[in-house]
Amino acid sequence: MAPVSSDVPVEPRPADPSVSPATAGGLTDQRIVVLDFGSQYAQLIARRVREQNVYCEILRHDISAQRLREIAPRGIILSGGPASVYATDAPRCDPDLFRIGIPVLGICYGMQLATEALGGQVQHTERREYGRASCRILDPDKLFAGFPETTDVWMSHGDQVSGIGEHFQVLAETSTCPYAAVRHRELPVYGMQFHPEVTHTPLGGQVLHNFVIGICGCAETWHLGDFAQAAIDDLRQRVGNRRVICGLSGGVDSAVVAALLYKAIGSQLSCILVNNGLLRKDEQAAVISEFTNHFRADLHVVDAEQQFMEVLAGITDPQEKRRRIGHAFIECFKAEAAKIDDAHFLAQGTLYPDVIESGAAIDGPAATIKLHHNVGGLPEELGFELIEPLRDLFKDEVRRLGCELGLPETLVWRHPFPGPGLAVRCLGEVTAERLVKLREADSIVVNEIKAAGLYRQTSQSFAVLLPVQSVGVMGDARTYEETVAIRSVNTDDFMTADWSRLPYELLARISTRIINEVAGVNRVCYDISSKPPATIEWE
Ligand code: XMP
Repeated sequence: MAPVSSDVPVEPRPADPSVSPATAGGLTDQRIVVLDFGSQYAQLIARRVREQNVYCEILRHDISAQRLREIAPRGIILSGGPASVYATDAPRCDPDLFRIGIPVLGICYGMQLATEALGGQVQHTERREYGRASCRILDPDKLFAGFPETTDVWMSHGDQVSGIGEHFQVLAETSTCPYAAVRHRELPVYGMQFHPEVTHTPLGGQVLHNFVIGICGCAETWHLGDFAQAAIDDLRQRVGNRRVICGLSGGVDSAVVAALLYKAIGSQLSCILVNNGLLRKDEQAAVISEFTNHFRADLHVVDAEQQFMEVLAGITDPQEKRRRIGHAFIECFKAEAAKIDDAHFLAQGTLYPDVIESGAAIDGPAATIKLHHNVGGLPEELGFELIEPLRDLFKDEVRRLGCELGLPETLVWRHPFPGPGLAVRCLGEVTAERLVKLREADSIVVNEIKAAGLYRQTSQSFAVLLPVQSVGVMGDARTYEETVAIRSVNTDDFMTADWSRLPYELLARISTRIINEVAGVNRVCYDISSKPPATIEWE
């Protein structure tokens, strides 16, 4: 890439997705693509394929067979989806893609599309089938190589294939689904009604391995150690001798971005940590010590607690809180960045799900931006050229990359924390006094879960302070104080989540400690709502 003089103002330019460390390093030459028909599981399928050490990306369902020929993946997976193949507005694929010689695996709705396109029939079943089913393998073929005669699978469908014509053969059945898995007799087209990507299908990983490695013949080229080296080389070349600014949040994504940059360009990296007064207990000190233990880069800590408290005074509306926090963050960051003379690039921890959901992926699915999750992001008018070294990766891959780069486990496995911080967990007005209560309660929740050895087994655990006062009794005195809710969830992707089944003894310990140790709180509740319909955060 031609060097750009740093004194010329440069329009911000998102990274070109077709030139990323992954593609540049040749790690993605053997790729599988998932065509997304609106399934909540499309990202999960891609992650499961990557667990086979094969690069996988998600593309629009209506991509043309011609374009697929140019991209030349080793295999194509058609995801599930909520539609019925007979509905007039059902999302379809280019029927020619079944005939371009690239192996195709249709999952659930994807199987129904494939069989319907190639002479089979699909029917609505009287009762939607949802849950575990015992599946009998009739023909191990390549797809079920190494399988026992019966295996559990996870079903979730309203329609199912009712006739396969003469071109398909049955590979597996269940008691309610005679065509649980099929293959075309001449074309490399496979289908399965069940979901191999979910953990409730215990041998799902094996089916995907058989398809990706056995049928598509992919070589296992996707390794995060190689990715790290490719990303470092790519960053070094792209940055040249210019300076990069990176915002640190205390989370794993920004830490991994900083670690990659530090390995690539060392002292040309400047990091900014904005203390908005909404961080967890001791978090600022932890970030600074983790940072200084690992890097000798330039670190700017902006103490903006007062400024954030002022903009939040009197505000109770969740959206307005987010808006004000986002705005104040940009102001602080901009002011600090202006003090760094020769800054040219801004590094951000954008991940692959953000890229997919923003619709910016190459040939990616339609835009559905989760606006509120962009709080804490930085606007384009800052005028820096953007660097997004993680835009090919899923969160679990970022964590593994963090380990490859030698970041401490405490940082790599830290639960995610929202950009607007404790403000969205402090329901009602955010005041310094209420933040102290919340911070203490939160620290008790997290430390007790850690002490019970359950931190890694839960995905996100925290306290929420509710503006609900209730009557209590302490000693001989009546109290009228606020309530803390404990929130702990387990999730694969943070898009759906279930509440953690924490042991009663642990909940009891947390409750006793909060009520005894946090002044102004006399009641503790446990949140047992799943997402959907609730969200993980309370605001
Ligand atoms: P919800 O509450 O929507 O959250 O179920 C899903 C995940 O996103 C995090 N979250 C945010 N992260 N800025 C962020 O950086 C935000 O404004 C924001 N809101 C929610 C949340 O903590 C959970 O991990």
